[in-house]
Amino acid sequence: MQTTNSSTEEEEIFQVRKLEISDKKKGFVDLLQQLTLCDSISDEVFEEQFNEIAKCGDNHLICVIEDNNSGKIVGTGSVFIEKKFIRNCGKVGHIEDVVVDSSVRGKQLGKKIIGFLSDHARKMGCYKVILDCSVENRPFYERCGFKQKEIQMPHRFCHLYKSSPKACTEEHPKTSINQYMFSKRIITFGYK
Ligand SMILES: CC(C)(COP(=O)(O)OP(=O)(O)OC[C@H]1O[C@@H](n2cnc3c(N)ncnc32)[C@H](O)[C@@H]1OP(=O)(O)O)[C@@H](O)C(=O)NCCC(=O)NCCS
Repeated sequence: MQTTNSSTEEEEIFQVRKLEISDKKKGFVDLLQQLTLCDSISDEVFEEQFNEIAKCGDNHLICVIEDNNSGKIVGTGSVFIEKKFIRNCGKVGHIEDVVVDSSVRGKQLGKKIIGFLSDHARKMGCYKVILDCSVENRPFYERCGFKQKEIQMPHRFCHLYKSSPKACTEEHPKTSINQYMFSKRIITFGYK
């Protein structure tokens, strides 16, 4: 009984919803810094990028979990819907940037995010969702119903953290981000 009450309470405290502009003030960017290197972003640049992503409508969804007690963003993930010619002009959902705040891991919030993103991709007509992850996160994605398939083959064009993407004209193989990424073994997952 106790468990049921506390899990219902947690359901109410931690609800998944779409990203809003005001989430920057609630720690959204700080949370992304737990996932990978992510510089601080000015309010102006954040708004510009938010509006740019919004132009994709339901084809690019970023979701968050807000802790309704503290008002802090404690989870996020995104899915991008790719339209293809193969598979009868089918669609594939690409899941990216999944992270749960270290203070609330192990409460099924990661699973909730993956469920939300997968449901969205299904409703959008995707025949599958796929993602890349480190070997360390493989058990988590398996618990979410994913299966390992194939390998990832990245070819970086630029230093990800230059101030402008327009400046990405040459390769910078020895940057901190590359060292960070190559220090992690990455695998590709598909959801059946
Ligand atoms: C990976 C991450 C998102 C998992 O979030 P979480 O909220 O702690 O995970 P959940 O509580 O939803 O776990 C769901 C299930 O996976 C299992 N699981 C989660 N992480 C695991 C791990 N590292 N190893 C083994 N099992 C794991 C849980 O035990 C749970 O199992 P259950 O269904 O039997 O109860 C979180 O650890 C995180 O943000 N890590 C840092 C960022 C990151 O690496 N993101 C992934 C990028 S690909």
